[in-house]
Amino acid sequence: MPWGATQPTPVNLSAFTSELSSQLTVSDAQLAQLAERFRLAMVAGLAGQPSSLKMLPSFINRPTGKEKGSAIAVDFGGTNVRVLRAELDGQGACTIQARNRFALKDAAAGYDYTAADVPAEKLFGYIAQQIGQIAQPGVVSPLGHTFSFPCQQFALNRAQLIHWTKEIKTSGVEGQDISALLEAALAKANVTNVRPQAVINDTVGTLLAAAYGQPDVDIASICGTGHNTCYLEPKHPLNGQPMIVNMESGNFDEVPQTKHDRALDEASDRPGFQKLEKMVSGYYLAEVVRTILADLAEQGGYAWGACLTQRQLIQGRDLDNILADKGDLPATKTFMAERLGATECTPELLAAVKAAVTLVATRSARLVAATFAGALLHIDPKLERRHVIAIDGSLYEKMPGYAAMISEGLRGALGVRAAQVSTILAKDGSGVGAAIAAAV
Ligand code: BGC
Repeated sequence: MPWGATQPTPVNLSAFTSELSSQLTVSDAQLAQLAERFRLAMVAGLAGQPSSLKMLPSFINRPTGKEKGSAIAVDFGGTNVRVLRAELDGQGACTIQARNRFALKDAAAGYDYTAADVPAEKLFGYIAQQIGQIAQPGVVSPLGHTFSFPCQQFALNRAQLIHWTKEIKTSGVEGQDISALLEAALAKANVTNVRPQAVINDTVGTLLAAAYGQPDVDIASICGTGHNTCYLEPKHPLNGQPMIVNMESGNFDEVPQTKHDRALDEASDRPGFQKLEKMVSGYYLAEVVRTILADLAEQGGYAWGACLTQRQLIQGRDLDNILADKGDLPATKTFMAERLGATECTPELLAAVKAAVTLVATRSARLVAATFAGALLHIDPKLERRHVIAIDGSLYEKMPGYAAMISEGLRGALGVRAAQVSTILAKDGSGVGAAIAAAV
């Protein structure tokens, strides 16, 4: 039945939901299997063998907490960039003295520095201008740069972008040295008192910031627009020393895809890449839901399905509202009316929509937990020590039930050994982490 038919055809909503549930539910046994596959992919990636995990060296160890002084940090994570000036007290505490946040894309103001027709010089020139505004006149400051994309790292301050993720397309950046681009832009903007010292991934920044005051932190993750995890490798093959490794775990490709995941991947800018990220991260979760609802609409001949061809029609906050919805599901009803123009929804249809969102969010948290379990088993096979996983990002911070589902997933994958593991919110850690990296 094509979209737009005037009369919905009867669709068995409970059969639709139970079919979806069988596709998206990850059992405890599957979690444990995935954790083991993830661990093996880590080992292969570290040894330079074929693996979907890039296992990128960061050239930085966990901080001691004694790092001291003032530094500027740039946090470039997606379409928003933050710059801040921070003071580290050398005793595990950090004070932010100034901060600014700006968008790389603003349709109302008519600019988009993330578009394919924008050259690297323009994007970095814009960032350099913002740095100039926060730098203290007459004071020379080290600068740490959190750049949240996969980079091949050659030294702490030498990182080459492998490829963009999160649908950013600015030209002339892939394959280039990020520090060199920023240094050139700072020179051109006449910002002469700022010295770029470090380029780090946001996961690495989050680990540095959390471990600065809390020594048990040895894994850090971003569960937000994008997804990725890093950990402290006790003996890195490059130097035999402890080093933080950026796994680029969003590219892990051993989770079976459903037809919805395949449809989303094929319609994305980079099909075949970042397969796990496309199942778990905030940018894509709403898109997975959109694909599922389009399928439901097609099966039921619901006219509201027509608008579901539009990318990003559904937003992260819609998912949060639906997940928190109770009773007669008023928020789900509002969502159906306002986003999809569906004003006549039966209680069964609303329940099916809520179930779809819950299944997608639960799968995300459980898959992320499986990767954490894999990393934990790599660093401490018998889980003999305490481990703290520092997590930043909107899903972990704001999505109803998400943090609890990660803990449940860890118990599912690790059983009683999960008692050795806790997760903490490390809010905005990546900016502070860049300041610590600059101070190191
Ligand atoms: C990038 C990672 C980053 C993550 C979270 C992913 O798309 O590949 O480098 O850490 O997003 O921002």
